[in-house]
Amino acid sequence: MIPAPIGLLAELTHRCPLGCPYCSNPLRLDRRSDELDTETWTRVLTEASELGVRQVHLSGGEPAARRDLERIVECCATLGLYSNLITSGVLLDRRRVMWLAEAGLDHVQLSIQADDAARADAIAGYGGGHARKLTIAAAVVAADLPLTLNLVLHRRNIDCLPAAIELALSLGAGRLEVAHAQYHGWALANRRALMPSRTQVAESAAIVKAARGRLGARLAIDFVPPDYYATWPKPCMGGWGRRSINVTPSGKALPCHAAESIPGLAFWNVRERGLADIWRNSPAFRAFRGTAWMQAPCAGCDRRAACGGGCRCQALAITGDATAADPACHLSPSHGEMLAMAEAESAAEESAFRHRRM
Ligand code: FES
Repeated sequence: MIPAPIGLLAELTHRCPLGCPYCSNPLRLDRRSDELDTETWTRVLTEASELGVRQVHLSGGEPAARRDLERIVECCATLGLYSNLITSGVLLDRRRVMWLAEAGLDHVQLSIQADDAARADAIAGYGGGHARKLTIAAAVVAADLPLTLNLVLHRRNIDCLPAAIELALSLGAGRLEVAHAQYHGWALANRRALMPSRTQVAESAAIVKAARGRLGARLAIDFVPPDYYATWPKPCMGGWGRRSINVTPSGKALPCHAAESIPGLAFWNVRERGLADIWRNSPAFRAFRGTAWMQAPCAGCDRRAACGGGCRCQALAITGDATAADPACHLSPSHGEMLAMAEAESAAEESAFRHRRM
């Protein structure tokens, strides 16, 4: 019996005015003309609800680039699905935030790139973006919507973490998600320019720990360390085909956002198949579900069910084999190679970003 997924990541569009160099979208982005229409998203959300999904993460690209975002939010509310908008904020205004709240939106995750405008806008490749985000954060709080700030950490902004914590407090956010860049999509292409040192990573963990102790319930802080300096792997996406489904702007159903990087996987499309059929029977979801596909050292490891073998896309990116152990695991034969690569890249001179562009 395959348990029901909890979450659906609805990538409504790949369009986004920002050019963040760590974006998890694929290098080849879906065009606007290929995007699912409102009716198809309504059907997909209905099928998700019937399948057992409880949370929908409305993402992109920038989901506010869709004019039908309010209708999609309204559909989630009607179905009793918890809706979380993951946004850069730059295409929103106060009025639209109010409309989204009235449509039944439950939560907003607003990205920031740094605490100060000059650096944030340089990282995002978008002038004036940071100032707009501050306005939108205020509008979200004024609309009585819970606000989480998202900050992706890398070597070019890691020193701003204490100031970002203060910024989250001053904006009235209830939560701050501090996630080190995960090296997929554009982040993988920019890895050399983004990789922090092991010392910087340890400092960021210590800063978060101290802030949690100091702030308690005033600000919840989530911390996602970078895999390259890890000892054990994370169960990526909560386990392949275990907890969530991604649907891309053009309708491909993926077990994770980077799954298209794995050659040979066939992705069924929600235009042609029902979501329950895809979840249970799609070859891509079945490929790494459970533990039968594992090879040594995962196959004989006591933790294999809990970690699910770690991240398949990372295993492929580092070892060239998507069935290999995630090199984030110290038991992987490629662990030392990955660590050495991270240390060499973090020690190299700063290099220019390649900004994400359509
Ligand atoms: Fe694909 Fe981790 S991003 S399994």
